[in-house]
Amino acid sequence: MVRKVSIVSAVQAAGLTKRFGSLTAVDHLSFEIREGEVFGLLGPNGAGKTTTIRMLACLISPSEGSASVGGYDTSKDSLKVREIVGILTENPSLYEKLTVYENMDFFAEAYGLSDAQERSSRIRELLEFFRLRDRKNEKVAKLSKGMKQKLAIARAIVHNPPILFLDEPTTGLDPESAKGIRDLIEGLSAQEKRTILLCTHRLEDAEKLCNRMMIVNKGKSVIVGTAEQLRSTIDSAPLLRVVLKGMNQRIIEAVRGVRHVRDVNVENSASNLIVTVDDLAAATPEVVRNVVQAGGEVLSVNPIQPSLEEAYLKLVKAE
Ligand SMILES: Nc1ncnc2c1ncn2[C@@H]1O[C@H](COP(=O)(O)OP(=O)(O)OP(=O)(O)O)[C@@H](O)[C@H]1O
Ligand SMILES: [Mg+2]
Repeated sequence: MVRKVSIVSAVQAAGLTKRFGSLTAVDHLSFEIREGEVFGLLGPNGAGKTTTIRMLACLISPSEGSASVGGYDTSKDSLKVREIVGILTENPSLYEKLTVYENMDFFAEAYGLSDAQERSSRIRELLEFFRLRDRKNEKVAKLSKGMKQKLAIARAIVHNPPILFLDEPTTGLDPESAKGIRDLIEGLSAQEKRTILLCTHRLEDAEKLCNRMMIVNKGKSVIVGTAEQLRSTIDSAPLLRVVLKGMNQRIIEAVRGVRHVRDVNVENSASNLIVTVDDLAAATPEVVRNVVQAGGEVLSVNPIQPSLEEAYLKLVKAE
């Protein structure tokens, strides 16, 4: 579900650059994340995504350029930025020797939740949500990777930050837990209007959760836009998938005879036709009519959109 967001910017980066010796990991990146938006950061390994997040969260300083988060300059107001941001890093730095509860309590207090009662009820609520409640007295060192990941996410949101930076939150999680995290992100965004920067390699997550996304490659922005806009960079002819109850040569010829049809192919499954057309709206009813006239039965007709993956691969390769 994608919703409208306000146009106030929660994050702004202007010419953000990070060099490590001779390597430019992030190269003059400029972008804006609107308040309430889920903004995806996509790109191949080593593209500079984590480095960008680390600069925005004031964990490292840029070599060049500037950024503001929640209206605060990351170089001048890093304390303020840290207060309003929740961050899940690639390698969550939890205290292995402390218990689950002690870790949460430590970070909650560090984030300014000074009332002990309030802190304990917030922690209880989060441990419940992440199904870690029965592990609360166990040392973090004994948790599985996925459990640590969940605890790290719980820690990132313990102080109810309005802005969240999540670096690959579903990595290492089982399908059910990963879905739980996706639902959580959706809820934080839709119901609670948080602004979320989501770094992910899972394009289906990006497509489902992000209002807009940016692809970075070699530290540079390749494109910023909605999933729809990214997909539209694939300029192939429109395709229809026609699922039939039965197939014969007469039906195929009848579809070929439609004015707007350019090509007809039988899909692996013998009763599906993949039809290349020049105009989806004009072709669809005519295709159905001709199939029926040829004695066929149509179960469904759907346009096939290029996938976000196809667009991503093309855009990254073009660089
Ligand atoms: N502290 C560091 N010192 C030197 N080089 C670094 C450092 N941190 C990152 N880099 C380099 O910067 C580049 C970008 O790394 P970064 O971790 O930002 O990539 P990423 O897009 O997050 O990749 P991935 O998808 O694998 O997580 C890489 O070439 C990496 O080796
Ligand atoms: Mg990374």
